[in-house]
Amino acid sequence: MIQLHQISKIYNQGKTNAFQALHKIDLKIADGELVAIIGTSGAGKSTLLHILACIDSYESGEYYIDDTLVKNCSEKKLAQIRNKKIGMVMQDFALVDDFSALQNVMLPLDFSKSKVSEKKEKCLKALQAVGMEKFAHHQSNKLSGGQKQRVAIARAIVNEPSIILADEPTGALDSKTSSEIMELFKSLNDAGRTVIIVTHDMKIAQQCKRVIRIEDGKIVD
Ligand SMILES: Nc1ncnc2c1ncn2[C@@H]1O[C@H](COP(=O)(O)OP(=O)(O)OP(=O)(O)O)[C@@H](O)[C@H]1O
Ligand SMILES: [Mg+2]
Repeated sequence: MIQLHQISKIYNQGKTNAFQALHKIDLKIADGELVAIIGTSGAGKSTLLHILACIDSYESGEYYIDDTLVKNCSEKKLAQIRNKKIGMVMQDFALVDDFSALQNVMLPLDFSKSKVSEKKEKCLKALQAVGMEKFAHHQSNKLSGGQKQRVAIARAIVNEPSIILADEPTGALDSKTSSEIMELFKSLNDAGRTVIIVTHDMKIAQQCKRVIRIEDGKIVD
């Protein structure tokens, strides 16, 4: 369960260029939901997703993941939550160009104490889940946009997180590849994961069980 209570985010607080990107956001998302977040460019979608992913801070309000108040966590505990509970697919894939697909998927396992052979097996399983096992040893900057997106998803799911957050996962893809990627998210959701997708694409949003619209840093719908 995800709960945001009166979350406000101000970039550059205290400076002349201070900007309030989120205004007192209240939001509850139950386990196993499939949610789309929509809204115009600059509305605050990525900001909200980054806060949900525990990779960005906020100026006021409370964020609970399950029963954990995120604000009170040490860096170590926060890293643990990010690593175990959350899988994030960034707006621009954020793959390491000169790493292979497999090496990219392995990144979240860097801190795991498992044997390398076990880690590799886990990564190959994740790559298989997104239909990319044949490309495991391909350098990631030589993959197509859709293939990169799949590798980014494999990396997000390799630790079997309960929450998957995706920022415009189909933004750069043609409509056929987009619907394939959406099928992938739906199957992850069918397997019981919470999936939250930021999108501009109404075709994607319509396939989610709940749509949240955000405008000027406020949830309006
Ligand atoms: N690091 C930052 N410093 C200052 N302002 C920022 C920063 N990141 C985002 N903003 C501002 O906060 C607002 C919300 O940005 P955000 O990236 O969340 O929008 P978005 O809804 O994801 O837009 P898009 O659809 O274009 O990705 C925008 O006005 C943006 O200019
Ligand atoms: Mg964005």
